[in-house]
Amino acid sequence: MCGIVGYIGFQEVTPIIINGLKRMEYRGYDSAGIALLAGETISITKRAGKVGDLENLVDLHPQSATIGIGHTRWATHGVPNDVNAHPHLDQTGSIALVHNGIIENHSAIRKRLERDGIEFKTDTDTESLVQLISAFFDITQDLEQAVRLALNEVDGTYGIVVVSSRDPEKLIAARRGSPLVLGINDGEYFVASDASAIVGYTRQVVYLEDGDMATLTREGYEVRTLGEEIVEHEIEEITYDIEQIEKGGFEHFMLKEIHEQPQTIMDSMRGRLIMEKGTAKLGGLREVLPVLNNASRIIITACGTSWHAALVGEYMLEHYARIPVEVEYASEFRYRDPIINEDDVVIAISQSGETADTLAALREAKMRGATVIGICNVVGSTIARETHAGVYIHAGPEIGVASTKAFTAQLVALSLLTLMLGRNRGFISIEEGKEFAQELMNIPGKVEQILAGTEDIKALAERYYQTSNALYLGRGYNFPSALEGALKLKEISYIHAEGYPAAEMKHGPIALIDENMPVVVIAPQDRIHEKVISNIQEVKARKGQVIAIVNHEDDVINDMVDHIISVPHTLDFLSPMLTSIPLQLLAYYIAVLRECDVDQPRNLAKSVTVE
Ligand code: G6P
Repeated sequence: MCGIVGYIGFQEVTPIIINGLKRMEYRGYDSAGIALLAGETISITKRAGKVGDLENLVDLHPQSATIGIGHTRWATHGVPNDVNAHPHLDQTGSIALVHNGIIENHSAIRKRLERDGIEFKTDTDTESLVQLISAFFDITQDLEQAVRLALNEVDGTYGIVVVSSRDPEKLIAARRGSPLVLGINDGEYFVASDASAIVGYTRQVVYLEDGDMATLTREGYEVRTLGEEIVEHEIEEITYDIEQIEKGGFEHFMLKEIHEQPQTIMDSMRGRLIMEKGTAKLGGLREVLPVLNNASRIIITACGTSWHAALVGEYMLEHYARIPVEVEYASEFRYRDPIINEDDVVIAISQSGETADTLAALREAKMRGATVIGICNVVGSTIARETHAGVYIHAGPEIGVASTKAFTAQLVALSLLTLMLGRNRGFISIEEGKEFAQELMNIPGKVEQILAGTEDIKALAERYYQTSNALYLGRGYNFPSALEGALKLKEISYIHAEGYPAAEMKHGPIALIDENMPVVVIAPQDRIHEKVISNIQEVKARKGQVIAIVNHEDDVINDMVDHIISVPHTLDFLSPMLTSIPLQLLAYYIAVLRECDVDQPRNLAKSVTVE
């Protein structure tokens, strides 16, 4: 959602904050701001628009300071204008706050403070918190105490950083439901909602937990609970490099991340396949393996692209491991009073590991006694830490808002899980297991082959980029690929696109088909190939324009459709790892031709930490 960065130390703070905000801009990008603490005064610069716009404004009036906080926003309460941008000030102009999350009881707090004569300047929920801190400061004359008292009164979620000219040698950070990480260096300390904001300055980090409040000075940092108990968190090392969060010669992060997939797919299976035994080992699941092997049911919960990966997981786990699997939108799961018992395993899939709905769903499942497992990309993320066990997908930082390499790496993790459980439960023979493992190893090379055919996909994008609608059809393992292909297109090009199970088309979407409707049909040579051919005929009979994703040399389909995109053949259950690649590229090139902001599409955010 929003991005937060703060610094206290000996260096000029403005470039540190601006650089940090740029690295986190993918989290939210409708407005941005910075507060500098120089001597006795706090000066704020903020505006609607991108971090680049803020930087231009800051450059007009450079100021020297070594303490500051910054924020990049994804609006929830109040339109994204200059006034509603963070940081927010209290009435006296001496306390500044940046906030990620939602203060749910902000109206009640605001009314109470307004009755006491406080004048609010913004429409945000955040201002109620900074005014409340200020009111408590007037009573206690102690910044930490004031923050603590205020936080005890708020309902909702927050990751906050506070700075005050009334107590100028410190930053205070606190979290409940929104991630915050501290960065540690000699004589300087950082705080950010995402380690990528500070990795250029330090690799030593401490992940705050919900309920923590940290005080940072130039001499050190201290973490306490809101109940004032000291908390000791381990210092951890960030393992990725700065290059991994830069574009590396590509025009957009999304394109770079699409092209990284041969490597990321390999990374997500590295060391996890036991070729001679035809199985997989997932170290992070060791402790829950007996429960997993005997699970009466697996529920997979997720949002967005991760939910599509979950659907593929359902198909493969049921088919090969013979465990009943249900896939649930996390946002629905938590509120529908689900029946869960202690033999159930709930798997939460989340690239960021911070999605509020997914986190809430897993907490609900845990509370009801299930064993909860995370499949996450971001190491140390909240979901990764709150689950009983988990699998990291090792895709490296994903910056483009539209998820690509995380999706295919999630599919790898699910394939490994399927292989392991199928073998453990006796439904996959050793020979079959060896074949699966070998074919998994072949996938990166096959993805490379697809990426080599990018020019054909560009040409298709030229042909269709002005369309207003598109339909994506697939069956079996490639029904989720169709959903994902449609999601990619709508997310970044704003073309209305729908994904559908191909056979279900005749129960509704077929009414949309005419000579102007592009229909992408995913039709590799799998178990249900013949059936998909019939569905293509149904589209052609209504003059739809068919773009078919096929395996090499599919003469039958070749003669029927308008355009062909070839992908190499693979085992059915691995097929989405290949078929999703041209769909990512097609969406990407169409969005570029439509001059859309590919990496930061309108209204979306990378990590949705509000409900
Ligand atoms: C947002 C992102 C999507 C992502 C979804 C779930 O909507 O824009 O790309 O798929 O959140 O995110 P997660 O981090 O939980 O996988």
